[in-house]
Amino acid sequence: MKDAEAAVSTVGLTRDFGSFRAVDGVNLDIPRGAIFGFLGPNGSGKTTTIRMLCGLLRPSSGSGRVVGCDIAREGEAIRRRIGYMSQKFSLYDDLTVAENLTFYAGMYGLANAKRRERVDAMIALADLRGRERTLTGALAGGVRQRLALACAIVHEPEMIFLDEPTSGVDPAARRRFWETIADLADGGATIMASTHFMDEAEHCTSLGLMYAGKMLISGSPDALKRELTVAAGKIWQARVPDSIGFLDRIRAFVSGGILDAYIFGASVRVLACGARLPADVAGAAAWEEREPTLEDVFVHHVRSSAGMEGQRCDA
Ligand SMILES: Nc1ncnc2c1ncn2[C@@H]1O[C@H](COP(=O)(O)OP(=O)(O)O)[C@@H](O)[C@H]1O
Ligand SMILES: [Mg+2]
Repeated sequence: MKDAEAAVSTVGLTRDFGSFRAVDGVNLDIPRGAIFGFLGPNGSGKTTTIRMLCGLLRPSSGSGRVVGCDIAREGEAIRRRIGYMSQKFSLYDDLTVAENLTFYAGMYGLANAKRRERVDAMIALADLRGRERTLTGALAGGVRQRLALACAIVHEPEMIFLDEPTSGVDPAARRRFWETIADLADGGATIMASTHFMDEAEHCTSLGLMYAGKMLISGSPDALKRELTVAAGKIWQARVPDSIGFLDRIRAFVSGGILDAYIFGASVRVLACGARLPADVAGAAAWEEREPTLEDVFVHHVRSSAGMEGQRCDA
């Protein structure tokens, strides 16, 4: 395999279930060593995309290569060289921690000294020293998740797919999980992880946003935020009593100097075209300027894709 080849590349990757198009013409390019964050609401096609990339589900059309192998023809070779932690990661509850790791190591063809060495390394990575003989069914959520990651990467894969690995675990466990992910990337692995959490997205070197089967935007977190303030001028935020009613009134200005307006936490935000708000909007609340966040980027692009925004600022 050529060294320069990307870890993941797809062209027009598409998957239909009957007459329903779950993944629609996705083009991906993930360089080696990247941490690619895969975002998008439930049902947007993330898991279906990941399963195609892992060689577990055939594309209806389009093509893709993962670690130098064709996803439609070389699924078996891909599965040997990647780690995949599925959304419902499958650990054996009636096996101990060490037995689960040993089982997965065996499945990947590791034997004898190499197997013992890798199982031991994974116990260290997952911080499970002292719990080798604990039954997996008795582990708390965050610990189970670390063990599931360890099982998925026991064979030292060069590419790791993680499908919502941190859903259902507490914030401290999520932070720790992402530290491990960063270490794995430092060690040369490429990571693709789906997530709903914007703080996790900030840890990624690049991001892609899926919506209704399509990849709406992709790029580094900084580039995506920069592009938003190029498309619009500035972001303004205000606390208002009736934010829904307020938005209804404000959105009438979408074609007159506002690119978008939406709820943001307990506040309302507007993307203004240019440096100033239209006078009527400016007078309607006590606005403060804000820096763009990834949440602004994603809220705006999903709304715009769903046809809920107004015109472009330069229209
Ligand atoms: N095997 C299947 N048969 C029919 N529809 C499916 C199947 N797998 C997924 N889908 C549908 O495809 C869409 C995308 O699902 P999925 O890839 O799981 O999204 P996500 O992971 O982003 O939540 C959903 O509408 C889902 O119901
Ligand atoms: Mg999913």
